[in-house]
Amino acid sequence: MGVSIPIKTDAELDQMRASGRAAARVLAAVLARVAPGVTTEELEEAAREALEREGAQSAFLGYRGYPARICVSINDEVVHGIPGPRRIEAGDVVSVDCGVILNGWYGDVARTVVVGSVEPDAWRLVSVAEAALAAATAQAVEGRRLGDLCAVIQQTVEAAGFSVVRDFVGHGIGRALHEEPQIPNFGKPGTGPVLRAGMTLAIEPMVNERGSPVQVDPDGWTVRTCDGGRAAHVENTVAVGRTAAEVLTDLGDG
Ligand code: MF3
Ligand code: CO
Repeated sequence: MGVSIPIKTDAELDQMRASGRAAARVLAAVLARVAPGVTTEELEEAAREALEREGAQSAFLGYRGYPARICVSINDEVVHGIPGPRRIEAGDVVSVDCGVILNGWYGDVARTVVVGSVEPDAWRLVSVAEAALAAATAQAVEGRRLGDLCAVIQQTVEAAGFSVVRDFVGHGIGRALHEEPQIPNFGKPGTGPVLRAGMTLAIEPMVNERGSPVQVDPDGWTVRTCDGGRAAHVENTVAVGRTAAEVLTDLGDG
């Protein structure tokens, strides 16, 4: 028995388009506030305001007890950083992850930015994560296998000399934040379930500057590299298409 991956009808895809657009707009509003001196709880406040404008709810607040609407993960933090009094500094690598629920449908999106400085190594880390997301998205087409999509993430990241985080995965998304299948950021081409038009996937490469494993902080959430190397995390909610993928959380940033 393989996994059973929900296929959305055209009407359901319209709902997913709406939740995806809302998620992208909330994330854009938060990213617009990222600057040196800003605290991460100010970003949480920006998310609260933007969610209200969208008439949407956070998909994260209260999820397994998570205490905030967004995740803000800085430098060696990979994912699931909790907003708080920390002030962003110039040169920080800041990942913001935003999940929303609109009319019962979920959207999930994340971007990583380098704050107020030209730091080639940090930019390269972020660009490689974005390239891995783009390469994986190009595989979200009817008839491809899930392993094809996972493998191109790993290949893109490792060819650049970085490593993928293996302890956390992307996921199907729709009526719930996490549906089947799990989407590891590594895999083998030609393996796994066949992708069908109407499947909706949250693809989320997590890229580690070095080869280090990750650990969870005593707060029970913040995931960070064990060796202090930096990480980038980008995510889109994507619909598998007949001939091309459709990005449902497009921020208009390429
Ligand atoms: N994008 C992440 C995920 O899909 C964010 C989850 S944060 C949580 O799991 F708080 F909701 F757990
Ligand atoms: Co996700």
